[in-house]
This record gives sequence, structure tokens and C-alpha cells, in this order.
Amino acid sequence: MQSQTYNYKVVRQFAIMTVVWGIVGMLVGVIVAAQLVWPELNAAEWLHFGRLRPLHTNAVIFAFGGCALFATSYYCVQRTCHTRLFAPGLAAFTFWGWQLVILLAAISLPLGFTSGKEYAELEWPIDILITLVWVSYAVVFFGTVATRKTTHIYVANWFYGGFILTVALLHLVNSAEIPVSLTKSYSAYAGVQDAMIQWWYGHNAVGFFLTAGFLGMMYYFVPKQAGRPVYSYRLSVVHFWALIFTYMWAGPHHLHYTALPDWTQSIGMVFSLILLAPSWGGMINGIMTLSGAWHKLRTDPILKFLITSLSFYGMSTFEGPMMSIKTVNALSHYTDWTVGHVHSGALGWVAMVSIGAMYYLIPRMYGKTEMYSTKLITTHFWIATIGIVLYIASMWISGVMQGLMWRATNPDGTLTYSFVESVKASYPFWTIRVVGGVLFLTGMLIMFYNMVKTIAGQKPYEAPVLAPAGAHA
Ligand code: HEM
Ligand code: HEM
Repeated sequence: MQSQTYNYKVVRQFAIMTVVWGIVGMLVGVIVAAQLVWPELNAAEWLHFGRLRPLHTNAVIFAFGGCALFATSYYCVQRTCHTRLFAPGLAAFTFWGWQLVILLAAISLPLGFTSGKEYAELEWPIDILITLVWVSYAVVFFGTVATRKTTHIYVANWFYGGFILTVALLHLVNSAEIPVSLTKSYSAYAGVQDAMIQWWYGHNAVGFFLTAGFLGMMYYFVPKQAGRPVYSYRLSVVHFWALIFTYMWAGPHHLHYTALPDWTQSIGMVFSLILLAPSWGGMINGIMTLSGAWHKLRTDPILKFLITSLSFYGMSTFEGPMMSIKTVNALSHYTDWTVGHVHSGALGWVAMVSIGAMYYLIPRMYGKTEMYSTKLITTHFWIATIGIVLYIASMWISGVMQGLMWRATNPDGTLTYSFVESVKASYPFWTIRVVGGVLFLTGMLIMFYNMVKTIAGQKPYEAPVLAPAGAHA
């Protein structure tokens, strides 16, 4: 037993594909951003904004974010449970199955096959493949936890576990559909119920795919990189239960002023406001883990990524509850403000924490403790941060401007501005977003170069499993 090694192969595969899919997904993001500035870029049917936009969201959330979650959860669960991954054959299946899902998405979405549900666009045969991969993922993850050699389960695994279970539930319920051909299906739900199911799914996709899983990542990699125990273990447990309980109810804030019953909208708003507390509890717990080691932030670019990600997490989880207030949403909904909020969470939180975790993980998969160039990580950090600021600040300004222009009326009650005037006024901000996106993408290309240099000529490493002891590894 003692000569057993951790299963790093599947971690390595997912880690490398995180960087690759990050580049692909963000490149598509830059293309759709450019299409809004230069409409002539909608050159062919399959290159059209309407087809590439879901390709972007699927690629960055499920390919980039998904691979980062698989890689880090498989690493964390083995290390903290002091045991090798359960069912290695199934673990390998999750890698190849997930890559197949991504490939099928990359083909079917540009061809125009879609179920029309945001973040759940893939057609029913792909939905079935996702289900198979996800059930296998659950078996591998929970099997590893069940066969652990430690007494307790480290909190990061709670978050990963919550994310895996909830995403299974969301996917199964929201994807219930009636197939009419191999490439077309219709939702099993109708009217406002369909809308409510969709946004119960959509919001919890944010809460569990884009948040709970990444909080698991945060709870493992921040203490590791800081060389400090997590600030408050008790807070982390309270944080877990409060977060998963509250997220479930907040979905209706996506459907303010619709045919959804008013009381349901109000519940969505109230739970969104409550959500500020557990979200900030988590952020504070992460940032305070650095207490006593603040000086490390000056020299360690990986910590810079991790701690900045937490700051953006705090910002977007303050902004979200504000946007869920009905009177604020009356201004922000349909505008670029929402897109700015999305990317302060997606780029600032999800991408930054993943990038930090990958910089920690990738060298360790090859028996090293550091990337090829620390300087390049620092360069990446600054380029990415400037890119995000340009992206989200331009969207905030254009969003508020659009909202105000749309609601402005003349004394006789007619609209002050036509819609086209608001589009014209948005162009400068959309151009700034392209610049921000290109910067962020450039950072990813630097990361790719750094990764190739780190890996080149190195043999894959298999670390020996640690002897049964405490939970931290
Ligand atoms: C180089 C980086 C990126 C660029 C240039 C970019 C650009 C864009 C653009 C132009 C849109 C469409 C906005 C619209 O319809 O008006 C969009 C939507 C979206 N992007 Fe990105 N993006 C980037 C990175 C990311 C990342 C890393 C994530 C997630 C982890 C992400 C998640 C999303 C989501 C969820 C939407 C849909 C927003 C909504 O429906 O309100 N993006 N992105
Ligand atoms: C306390 C936490 C949060 C709350 C209460 C919240 C609330 C909101 C609200 C009110 C909207 C606008 C709905 C609309 O007008 O259509 C929204 C949109 C969105 N938020 Fe958040 N948010 C939170 C955190 C986050 C985080 C951390 C992320 C990303 C990692 C995120 C991703 C999104 C996405 C992707 C959308 C756009 C959905 C769409 O229309 O396609 N949110 N959020």
C-alpha cells in the first residue's frame, strides 16, 4: 500500500486542457466582442454572432472551467484523503468523455443545433453523454472520499461534492426534453414554468458550477500557496451550508417583471440579498488566510492571482444582490451592465482562481515545484488584470448609459432616443471591451508558452501516497 502513487495522469490531462480550452474559449469571446464592433465579421452562417456566442459560453464555462474543476478536484480529493483515485478506468472515461462533449459542442453549436436554453444549449444525445460522464465523475469522487485514509473530510471536498451533486440534479431536471429527431428536441416544460426551471438551472449553474466548485479550489490552493492554514475552519463549514441553502432560491431574479408571479420574483430578490452574507464570509475566509503572510503577496504572482480572484468574487457578489433589487434590475436588465457583472465574476473570479491553481498544479505534475518562468506569471497577472478592468468598466458605463437612454422620455411621453441611437452610443465601449479581451487572451498565450517550457523534456511524475494522518496534504 505504501508504494502506491497518486493518479496524476488524469489531473495532468485535465490541467493541460484547461489552458488549451481557455485559449479557444476566450478567442471565440474576442471574436464575438469584435463582431459587435465590426458587424461585417459575421461573414458566414456558422460564424454568426448568434451561433458563436453560445460556443463562447460553453467553451469558457464547461470546457475551460470544467477541466479546471476536474483537474483540481481529482488532485485535491486524492491528496487530502491520502488515497489513490477510486475507479481509475472511470476517471479516464471522464476525461475522454468530457473532451468528446466539448468537441460535439464545438461542431453542433456553429451548425445551429441548439435546444435554445442558455448554458444548456446542447441537444439531447450530447445531454445523455454529459449525464454518463457526470455520474462517472460522482462515482470516482465520492468513491475516493469513501475509501479515504483520513478521519475527516477536508472542507474543499465538501464544496466539490456539493458542486458535483447539484450539477447532476440541475442537468437532469432542466434537460428533460422530448426529442423529435437526432438533432432537435423540445423542452418538457411550457411557458413560464419552462422559464422558471431554466433560471433555477441558470442561476444555480452560476452558484454551483461557477462558484461552489471554485470555492473548493480556493479552499485548497489558497492555504497551500500561502503556506498557512485556512483562516477559520468553523467559518468555512458555516459558509458551505449557508451558501448552498441560499443559492437554490435566488433564480427568479433573472425573471423580474415577467409573467412569473410577483411573489416568486420577490422571493428571488430577498434570497439574493441574503446571499451577500455567505458569499462575503467565504471571501473573507480566503483573504484572511493570508494574515501573517501578507508580505508574500509582493513577490508571489500565484498568490496575486488567487487573492485578486477573491477580491473580484467579493465585488461580483456585492453587485449581484444589488442588481437583484427590482428597481435596480429595471435599469440593468437587458443592458451591458449584466455582461459586465458576468465577466467580473467569470474573468475576475473564475478565470483568475483557475489560472492561479494551474500555475501551482502544472509543475507538480512533472515533479517540479515551480513554473519555467515566475517573471512570465507576473507579466500574465498584470496583463490579465488590466484586461479585466477595461472589460468590466466599459460594460458598466455602457450598461448604465443604455438603461438611462431606453427609459428617457420627452415631456409629451414619447421616447427621447431610438434604440439605434443607444447602439451607436455603445460602440466606443464595445471597442474598449475588445482591447480588454485581447489583453486577457494574450495573458493566456503567455501561460501556454510558460506551460510548454515547464513541461518540455520532463517525465510525468507520480507522487507516492502519503501515510494516513491528518487531512492536509
Ligand atoms: C477574453 C476573454 C473574454 C471575452 C473577450 C469575452 C467576451 C464576451 C462577449 C462579447 C459576450 C457577449 C456579450 C453580449 O451578448 O453582449 C460574452 C458573453 C458571456 N461570456 Fe464572455 N468573454 C471572455 C471570457 C469569458 C470567461 C472566462 C467566461 C466564464 C468563465 C465568460 C462567460 C460568459 C458568459 C456567461 C456570457 C453570457 C453573458 C450573458 O448572457 O449575460 N466569458 N463574453
Ligand atoms: C451573491 C451572488 C450573486 C447574485 C445575487 C447575482 C445576481 C445576479 C443578477 C440579479 C443578475 C441579472 C439578472 C438579469 O437581469 O437578467 C445576474 C446575472 C448573471 N450573473 Fe450573477 N449574481 C451573483 C454572483 C455571480 C457570480 C459570482 C457570477 C460568475 C461567476 C455570476 C454570473 C452571472 C451570469 C452568468 C449572469 C447572466 C445570466 C444571463 O442572463 O445569461 N453571478 N446575477
